[in-house]
Amino acid sequence: MKIVFYGIGNMASAIFKGMINEGIKPEEIYVTSTPGDPFLERYKEELGVVPSLDDALLLRDADYVVFATKPQDFDSVVERVKPYLEDKTILVSIMAGTTIKTIQNKLNGNETVRIMPNTNAVVQHAVNGVAFSDNFTNKEELLGLIETFGTNVLIDESEFNQITAATGSGPAFLYHIYEKYSDSLVNLGFSKEQADVLTRELVIGTAEMIKNSDLPLSTLRENITSKKGTTDAGLKSLYKHDIEEMFDQTLEAAKTRGEELSKD
Ligand SMILES: NC(=O)c1ccc[n+]([C@@H]2O[C@H](COP(=O)([O-])OP(=O)(O)OC[C@H]3O[C@@H](n4cnc5c(N)ncnc54)[C@H](OP(=O)(O)O)[C@@H]3O)[C@@H](O)[C@H]2O)c1
Repeated sequence: MKIVFYGIGNMASAIFKGMINEGIKPEEIYVTSTPGDPFLERYKEELGVVPSLDDALLLRDADYVVFATKPQDFDSVVERVKPYLEDKTILVSIMAGTTIKTIQNKLNGNETVRIMPNTNAVVQHAVNGVAFSDNFTNKEELLGLIETFGTNVLIDESEFNQITAATGSGPAFLYHIYEKYSDSLVNLGFSKEQADVLTRELVIGTAEMIKNSDLPLSTLRENITSKKGTTDAGLKSLYKHDIEEMFDQTLEAAKTRGEELSKD
């Protein structure tokens, strides 16, 4: 198997680190970026992946080419890829906003899959929204490959901007909430270091509870809320804020940006 990454930023590196952690051989992973990108050599040393700026070498007999640049850099990638792209090579895009039709129009109609992962790929816990082109044949192999770094959710391409907002950008929204929680622990009297440890452990423990339980989130919450107790008092104060409205606006803004990027 030969998998080639165009772009080795936050998301691509999370994906190939996740793949390597799950047993894909690093020498099957080729990486390229802009000339002089110091991460090319760094990932070779740290992970054993194969760095190159030679598009002919990169694309020769490639099974998968992963487009992991910002969408605005896609045209410069197309210029590099088009002269050497083989018919059998499957195109995988993780770019927000760039449609399957656009990719296929620019690159000979090769089989194409769009994935919207998130940076939790590095710990094999991404959520991968997945949409295939009509001419895609070996879906099982592709789904198995990306399952190495996360859970696949098959969606219609029309839902991509929603999933980009929900789980592509989602970790950043949750990090912000945790940051603010930690700041409040400082206001409560803890040192910054203590607040950081308490917040991290709270988040990790709560996530483990969610992972290991089939109960609805509301039941997990109710299970630790005794009437007139401390949690009850805290929640009554929390319920005065319209958190759903806050998230509605956050997700809508992210979705709208995805729509704008799709039009560029
Ligand atoms: N970050 C996330 O959480 C997330 C989640 C889901 C999807 N995505 C999608 O993933 C894509 C990448 O995001 P990112 O956060 O990883 O961006 P990023 O950190 O900026 O990485 C982009 C990479 O592409 C490289 N690049 C630019 N032009 C290139 C070219 N012509 N040929 C080869 N490489 C080139 C950049 O190199 P230089 O740094 O040298 O310019 C950099 O290594 C975006 O389309 C985004 O929508 C991101």
